Amino acid sequence: MSDIIRLPEVTFSDTMKVSEAIARRRSIRNYDGHALSLQDLANLCYFSAGVTEKTRGLCANPTACNCHEIDLYVVTESSCARYMPEEHALHVVENGDFRAEMAIQPFAKEASVQFIYVCNAKSFEKFPGEPSSKQKYAHTDAAIMATNTCLFATSIGLGSVMRGMFDPAVVSARLKLAAEDEVVLTVSVG
Ligand SMILES: Cc1cc2nc3c(=O)[nH]c(=O)nc-3n(C[C@H](O)[C@H](O)[C@H](O)COP(=O)(O)O)c2cc1C
Repeated sequence: MSDIIRLPEVTFSDTMKVSEAIARRRSIRNYDGHALSLQDLANLCYFSAGVTEKTRGLCANPTACNCHEIDLYVVTESSCARYMPEEHALHVVENGDFRAEMAIQPFAKEASVQFIYVCNAKSFEKFPGEPSSKQKYAHTDAAIMATNTCLFATSIGLGSVMRGMFDPAVVSARLKLAAEDEVVLTVSVG
């Protein structure tokens, strides 16, 4: 499967102040299933994990030693896809609607998109620190990316909730992850 979904250029207009988004963010557990616009999806990906400084290869989300080991996957009503920050595009892993089987909690299948934060073991091979600290950093880095997602969602009037309740075997199989990769966290948005 090699479909590529080119995302529209990010837009910076009509968002609320960071302080207001922090104050307003709540975990939302009821969704009406309406699909996000491609622009909102593009902006959510960009402000979660996009390349914000091309010359130095720096992103919206900090990572330990700038390893960029957290991959962002997007599960919508039409596909599971990996966000490629350098291309600002989605690479489709599988076509179809797999939100229900990844939901566990019934409300989650009604959310328009599930964002999934995966530690890519290959990207993390270059981590120069103590190997026993890698999991700590991967979990921290995923939580930072997920926080970006939730705060940006709030800023454009969308609901979100972090979800640690998922079946890693189901998610890994659908996303076709390598055995060493780790699904760390998910966020439902809608
Ligand atoms: C790491 C993490 C995992 C969470 N997992 C779930 C989950 O699986 N399902 C769920 O409904 N809420 C989940 N939550 C949401 C929390 O229950 C929620 O943040 C908390 O009750 C505080 O409410 P607030 O987010 O509205 O401030 C999770 C939150 C965090 C930070």
